[in-house]
Amino acid sequence: LPFLALTAALAYLIGSIPFGMVFARLFGLGDLRQIGSGNIGATNVLRTGNKLAAALTLIFDVGKGGIAVVVARAVFAEDAGQLAGFAAFLGHCFPIYLRFKGGKGVATWLGTLLGLAWPVFLAAGATWLVTAGLFRISSLAALVAALLTPLWAWLLGFPSMVVLLIALGVLIYIRHAGNIRRILDGTESRIGKKT
Ligand code: G3P
Repeated sequence: LPFLALTAALAYLIGSIPFGMVFARLFGLGDLRQIGSGNIGATNVLRTGNKLAAALTLIFDVGKGGIAVVVARAVFAEDAGQLAGFAAFLGHCFPIYLRFKGGKGVATWLGTLLGLAWPVFLAAGATWLVTAGLFRISSLAALVAALLTPLWAWLLGFPSMVVLLIALGVLIYIRHAGNIRRILDGTESRIGKKT
């Protein structure tokens, strides 16, 4: 049990690394929290117009979720992978390095899926891409993907993930409260448009 607690703590610290802030700083794009939605994720990095920085943010934010899960699973077992994924997700949303004011967790959630079950990752990613292709709204794509992915996991033969995915889905909706309001208002920003 102390090892599990250590795993969760390490996964939380890895998840806490705000790669959007890191790359925005490295590319000289300024403080992300003063730009666009003020969020620290890849969608908001893209609003600076720097596609490379946005892509790197996406890859590293997905990667930290994936690595947390894969390492925990290698050291312990399936359940530890779920715990680590959950902890990494919480790290991204409530990072210790940013006084617990973090992101919305979508990329880290995808990384957790990739580490736990790649078919579920593909289904979630495809759901995001199709919704984003139809509506050009990143947050809406995330909300639709978060809603449907517990179902995809169940249908694809990963019922042990469903409880975790519902919990993460609820957190994703809570983190997107402002986005949901803007979607309903018709004022949510579209992908590819600056600020
Ligand atoms: O992953 C975050 C995305 O769903 C919304 O980001 O910057 O549009 O609030 P943003």
